[in-house]
Amino acid sequence: MAKISVIGAGNVGATTVQRLAELELGEIVMTDVVEGLPQGKALDLMQAGAIKGYDTSILGSNDYSDIADSDLVIVTAGIARKPGMSREDLIKTNSKIIVEVSQNIAKYAPESVVVIVTNPLDIITYVAMKSTGFETKKVFGMSGVLDAGRFASFIAEELKCSRKNVQAMVIGGHGDLMVPLPQYTTVSGIPLPDLLPEDTISRLVERTINGGAEIVELLKQGSAFYAPSSAIVSMAEAVIKDSKSVLPACAYLEGQYGQEGIYFGVPVKLGASGVEEILELKLDQDQYEVLRKSSESIRKIFSQIEV
Ligand code: APR
Repeated sequence: MAKISVIGAGNVGATTVQRLAELELGEIVMTDVVEGLPQGKALDLMQAGAIKGYDTSILGSNDYSDIADSDLVIVTAGIARKPGMSREDLIKTNSKIIVEVSQNIAKYAPESVVVIVTNPLDIITYVAMKSTGFETKKVFGMSGVLDAGRFASFIAEELKCSRKNVQAMVIGGHGDLMVPLPQYTTVSGIPLPDLLPEDTISRLVERTINGGAEIVELLKQGSAFYAPSSAIVSMAEAVIKDSKSVLPACAYLEGQYGQEGIYFGVPVKLGASGVEEILELKLDQDQYEVLRKSSESIRKIFSQIEV
């Protein structure tokens, strides 16, 4: 049976564990630095299994040794973005946490595939790859599935159609410089530009780019977790079931999209060994320009921190 560990038992971590448990994808370990928090939530989630009907074993722990031999480790540890705070503001605190988490993953679960969720995603994923010392394909981040989910939801609302029919694609950085791709977004196979006028699409693209911030402003404290945990679980399923799913992920680029040595969102094929292939799409000139700016801003942050 597969073993999945979730580091960080906050909103995103615990909701991810709930969704994983309901799918009975494998045994689960949930860890956190706060004593009692993962243990309490694990108990609650196991008791839910008696009512919902799942037998998943869930261990709450403050001890990294419990993640030993995990097949998949999902990292949500960190502080969440507060209103008015940019993802970049989070960088110093969260990268310190991630270095510690990564060293423990390398020590106890050296064969695992690692999904990073902690923001600022593109930077933190790089920090995790460096500090685990793992092959680049085994460490990737969750952003595009979430951003594409947001774009799809806004499109469905606009067209008054089922969300289930919309397949959206969003690449680039996770933040202001993400690149939603209307030309690769379809509704039951029908290209989005055939269904909506350009100005409406631009409005939905803008709302997608601000999707995380819109929720942060409403919540007043903390950030989104229902859609993020859903996105994590779709990636976890691809790894555990080795399904070769094609979806956007924050992956390490080695020349693709004209980028070398950084992580950002691109379509990939995801399977048991992690990112098994990066798919290169043809983009419009202005989309390439945003990607270039995206990578520039990521590199600028790198130059300011020690990785
Ligand atoms: N090891 C393990 N857990 C840690 C550590 C650490 N070194 N440092 C902090 N944590 C835990 C916190 O105790 C907290 O329970 O991480 C958890 C984070 O949970 P929340 O504050 O509820 O944040 P959440 O909404 O889950 O977001 C987590 O995901 O989407 C991103 O931007 C978001 O970076 C943030 C992360």
